[in-house]
Amino acid sequence: MIEVQNLVKKYGEVTAVKGISFVAKTGQVTGFLGPNGAGKTTTMRMLTGFMPPTAGKAIVAGYDVFEQSMEVRKRVGYLPESVPLYRDMTARGYLQYMGEIRGVNGTRQKAAEVLERVGLTSRANSRIRTLSKGMRQRVGLAQALLHDPEVLILDEPTIGLDPIQVLEIRDVVRQLREAHTVLFSTHILSEAEQVCDNLVIINQGTIVAEGSPAQLRAELERGGRILVRTEAPTETVMEALRSIPTVAHVEQTVEGIVVTPRDVSVDPRPQIAQVIVQNNWRLIELRPLAVNLEEIFLELTRQTATPEEEEEKVKHIADENAVSVISETEEGSTHE
Ligand SMILES: Nc1ncnc2c1ncn2[C@@H]1O[C@H](COP(=O)(O)OP(=O)(O)O)[C@@H](O)[C@H]1O
Ligand SMILES: [Mg+2]
Repeated sequence: MIEVQNLVKKYGEVTAVKGISFVAKTGQVTGFLGPNGAGKTTTMRMLTGFMPPTAGKAIVAGYDVFEQSMEVRKRVGYLPESVPLYRDMTARGYLQYMGEIRGVNGTRQKAAEVLERVGLTSRANSRIRTLSKGMRQRVGLAQALLHDPEVLILDEPTIGLDPIQVLEIRDVVRQLREAHTVLFSTHILSEAEQVCDNLVIINQGTIVAEGSPAQLRAELERGGRILVRTEAPTETVMEALRSIPTVAHVEQTVEGIVVTPRDVSVDPRPQIAQVIVQNNWRLIELRPLAVNLEEIFLELTRQTATPEEEEEKVKHIADENAVSVISETEEGSTHE
């Protein structure tokens, strides 16, 4: 279980994570969903004990990440955004080596076990540099599983993979759910919907929505637009629908007439139905306009920047450039 309470992270002037709270339950995959720069990696680095929060608290597997970070590290498997793999080692050799560093007992046996779990037994003796990107990602996942952690924190594990490799990773993650608490970050909504039991949506360092994919969809559909199709003349019907008090807006689309309610908490469908019946029009369709999670996500993460925030963003970009120069040189020396 992961419990996050009012967690804040500032990088100098920039507040990357602005007091977020959420819970990731045992036996579930919790999707940590948000666009680039939302604060996913920052949050995950705090939860794995790699970086102290500026304020707030997080309990992971029963321990405070800040006060008891060694206890937390023992119980958390972490797949960072880019895994530093040693390219000349074999998959097995790398995992045994990582096991030894972490003080895992019986590293040979453990390495074989985790290779099996990620479906890489047949490539155990291949050098990492000869593996495909998807396989390397699975080696990274195997590394995160070595010490049998209760909690798994996976930072965008499918990024940069081809579609088949993406499916393989998702399968592995779904299987992990049974025995672990999994926090899985992604900026791809359809992926979150397929892999996760629960979604936490983050944007600009703030949680903007939380719930199961079905709950989130239902929430948005409630105040959503209604599609109306009848056999009566379109103009006449639109005119009549406009006179309904709970209706804010009526427009014609290729699908039919689309009605926008005035108040999200008042469903205008009963009144629309009444108007249609009164006029004796033959009804073809009356239903909520299809809302997919993609639309919800766009809606929730739409940029609503104030001038000050815009200014802050320009500063961010400058910082980000500075950061990326550093990480490029780091990559050159440690990854190759
Ligand atoms: N080391 C750092 N120094 C300064 N700003 C940072 C640093 N790391 C991340 N940021 C900023 O914090 C924000 C959140 O970044 P990040 O957590 O990487 O988001 P995500 O993983 O969701 O893409 C971004 O605005 C990013 O520019
Ligand atoms: Mg990230």
